[in-house]
Amino acid sequence: MGEIRTPMFEHTELFVRGVGEGTDVVQKEMYTFTDKGGRSMTLRPEMTAGVARAFIEHNLGQQTLPQRFYYIGPNFRYEKPAGGRQRQFHQFGAELYGSAEPAADAEMISLAYEFLKGAGLGNATLSINSLGGPECRAKANAALLEFLKNSYDQLCPVCQERSAKNPMRALDCKEKSCQAILADAPSPIDFLGEECKKHFDDLKTILDAMKIPYTIDPKLVRGLDYYTRTVFEFIDPGSGLAVCGGGRYDGLIEEVGGSSTPAVGFAMGLERIIQMLEQEGQPPQANETDIFVGSMGPEGYIKSQALANSLRKAGIRAISDLAKRGVKAQIRYADKIGARFSVIIGDSEIQSNQASIKEMKTGAKEDVGLDSLGEYLIGKIKA
Ligand code: HAM
Repeated sequence: MGEIRTPMFEHTELFVRGVGEGTDVVQKEMYTFTDKGGRSMTLRPEMTAGVARAFIEHNLGQQTLPQRFYYIGPNFRYEKPAGGRQRQFHQFGAELYGSAEPAADAEMISLAYEFLKGAGLGNATLSINSLGGPECRAKANAALLEFLKNSYDQLCPVCQERSAKNPMRALDCKEKSCQAILADAPSPIDFLGEECKKHFDDLKTILDAMKIPYTIDPKLVRGLDYYTRTVFEFIDPGSGLAVCGGGRYDGLIEEVGGSSTPAVGFAMGLERIIQMLEQEGQPPQANETDIFVGSMGPEGYIKSQALANSLRKAGIRAISDLAKRGVKAQIRYADKIGARFSVIIGDSEIQSNQASIKEMKTGAKEDVGLDSLGEYLIGKIKA
């Protein structure tokens, strides 16, 4: 899987067509401006549409399919900033192009699941649903419209407005009054045609075989218009917020000007992941330093810089003292930057021609001759 980097802003039209004219994202949340050439541009509110545009523009469909991409970067939505909602936030996501197989959906779900588990967030709950293809959706929408006919006046203004274009979106309205009305509403899952039903059944079978726990949420519809068939979300049980959302979007590439290509993917909110980790009492820690190489005295200062440099050349994350602090302050610094090991080279080390490697966590020390110190450290840290 390779990284794909798309521009921070795109033509507004891409998001209107891709994400959907009737969505909150397009109607209310886009940062749109006119550039000096009079073109309407928009800071990307999400990355799937930009990846689709790049896929078409660079003829990636001509290469072997399926293809997988991942991305990480900032996105912009004019939402009310509140717990877990920022106007500039970061997403990590992945997209798989060129397979309509349920195994592709399962692969993307599994990737997100393993990533969250690896980050210590295995308790995020996975909900899945299927919206079906265009025909199933049309049937589901018609049934929902019929169901809402008599309670239209009691719906919130947003749902009233939406119900004309995409009544399905009312299903995930957060308004209590709408939720009460929609409790018994027909769900898209009740209108799946034979093929879409088989696709969803096969996906469930593969997830079971992969031992990925999930629940089926018939009301899960997602807020972006491009989804077909599978949709899914990982929810933080503490805040109830989605840390990850995704699904299949077999019509998007055609919608934005390419040839029909099935695709599936997800994106997760990095700020939400950090928030969840903090709530769980395990804030993410950058453990980015293998060794701190400190020094005392002018000769030790030079030797320590040379040692740190040769360690870095060997791929070791080595930090030397650049502040000429006292030894105690250097060790405190080594501790703060999360160094696994530290070593100090001062006059006495040079005289005895050996230095003491300290494992910061345990305090255990090991004396090694200066001449072989570099090589010894490389072996020890890489082991
Ligand atoms: P989304 O559900 O709109 O999907 O966003 C994905 C994730 O981004 C959310 O689950 C949440 O963690 C995070 N997120 C969204 N808005 C905000 C915000 N204002 N502040 C903080 N975090 C936020 C998409 O964007 C789709 N492009 C996902 C996808 C990829 N579907 C298929 N491929």
